[in-house]
Amino acid sequence: MLNLEVLINKEHDESRQGEAFSTQVQIPAPYAKHFYIESYGCQMNFADSEIVASILQQEGFGATTNIQEADLIFLNTCSIREKAEQTVRNRLQHFKSLKEANPAVLVGVLGCMAERLKSKFLEEEKLVDLVIGPDAYRTIPGLVREAEAGQKAVNVLLSRDETYADISPVRLNSNGVTAFVSIMRGCNNMCSFCVVPFTRGRERSRDACSILSECSSLFDQGYREVTLLGQNVDSYNWADKNGGELITFAKLLERVAQISPLLRVRFSTSHPKDITDEVLLTMAAYENICNYIHLPVQSGSTRVLQMMNRTYTREWYLNKVDRIRQILPDCGLSTDVIAGFCSETEEDHQFTLALMEHCKYDLAYMFFYSERPGTLAARRYKDDVPEEVKKRRLQEIVSLHREHALQSMQKDVGKTFTVLIEGDSKRSAQAWAGRNDQNKIVVFPKGEHGLRKGDYARVHVYDCTSATLLGNVVSH
Ligand code: SAH
Ligand code: SF4
Ligand code: F3S
Repeated sequence: MLNLEVLINKEHDESRQGEAFSTQVQIPAPYAKHFYIESYGCQMNFADSEIVASILQQEGFGATTNIQEADLIFLNTCSIREKAEQTVRNRLQHFKSLKEANPAVLVGVLGCMAERLKSKFLEEEKLVDLVIGPDAYRTIPGLVREAEAGQKAVNVLLSRDETYADISPVRLNSNGVTAFVSIMRGCNNMCSFCVVPFTRGRERSRDACSILSECSSLFDQGYREVTLLGQNVDSYNWADKNGGELITFAKLLERVAQISPLLRVRFSTSHPKDITDEVLLTMAAYENICNYIHLPVQSGSTRVLQMMNRTYTREWYLNKVDRIRQILPDCGLSTDVIAGFCSETEEDHQFTLALMEHCKYDLAYMFFYSERPGTLAARRYKDDVPEEVKKRRLQEIVSLHREHALQSMQKDVGKTFTVLIEGDSKRSAQAWAGRNDQNKIVVFPKGEHGLRKGDYARVHVYDCTSATLLGNVVSH
């Protein structure tokens, strides 16, 4: 059985630091050939791997977690920071011996790094047979056949309309309770530090009907939480080609929430410039839309934000946070912060710390700036903050956040929450682990309550660590 805390920690690591874990699916039928896939980067990449798995199963490839028995090894890669790309390169080195032992094994690179490097990958990494960008997964069967015939196969064409709406993902690493559902692809924002618009292409929204039917079918299969995914979910908008109603993100949220009060709805990521009152009021109106918002700030200095092309100021951001707290007083709030962006001064850095002090984030993903080739910042600005300064500033940001995170956990001691049970606790099979509305992990003894995975329990919190609330069931 999958362990929840490991899963959650992994999620966080992976979405932000590019570690990997492999597929954990049962092989439903005896397949003649097998594929092994490792995913890096954000949740959207993990969701894409489930699309790829579906396409490969149709082609007669079964998923395996045992790399030794794989005929096809795929790495779904991330380019967000230099370190993410380095991790993939190291992993590829590791595959060399597998390829030497069995030259028929095919190695494919998918995702953002494939898109960024294109056929250069084949020159740089001789053992790579396939390079496939994020909009080209439908062509995988043909590309695999080409590669099987001994040719190198590349497709990195980006699309303006591909959303894979009709492909039912094969759930990988699933706990059977929570699932991610992609609602859009690409990004039209040009944050100057960011490689995503180049690797994922233009923003496009997925057909709302296909999103609703995927969520309903997940609910029917026993899933109790869906997280709607996009780089900028608040700019979701879709209308039926026959002149149907325009579905905004707030409308979509509402429709998904109406599937069942027992289905929790989460979403990620919100851009501070786009999150609307309509979204906040919809969250307030539906108890099953979780009170948790990931609102990346990146920097607390208006000057730096302008250079980052984030299109909001420090004050705008702080007003948004105040508005969230006004409409949703107990809303969990998390963020992303970049330390040491081009030209960042000590004063700018202090602005970031002061903003964090004001927002007191429950969770934060913190990075130092890593210049990405081809981005606006790489072309326009000098990466001039020395590495040791970047690292020191990041350390200060991390330390301050740790204090806030602990305070946020301590504040919840003595409260009672509704917890969705996701599985056994990491430490003991005698305890359940799940999350509350605000996305905090809650662990509690199973006792004699007859609870199961996927059930909701009311849990009273009596203590906490910096990452976990500890409680006891009061009723369910
Ligand atoms: N679409 C999301 C973020 C996607 S990338 C948003 O707009 O918030 C996830 C995070 O990686 C970003 O929020 C940013 O904090 C970080 N990041 C992106 N590019 C980076 C870079 N070049 N160096 C360091 N961190 C970066
Ligand atoms: Fe990158 Fe900005 Fe788009 Fe997020 S909104 S993916 S940071 S360009
Ligand atoms: Fe990485 Fe691509 Fe996601 S660059 S963060 S995998 S969109």
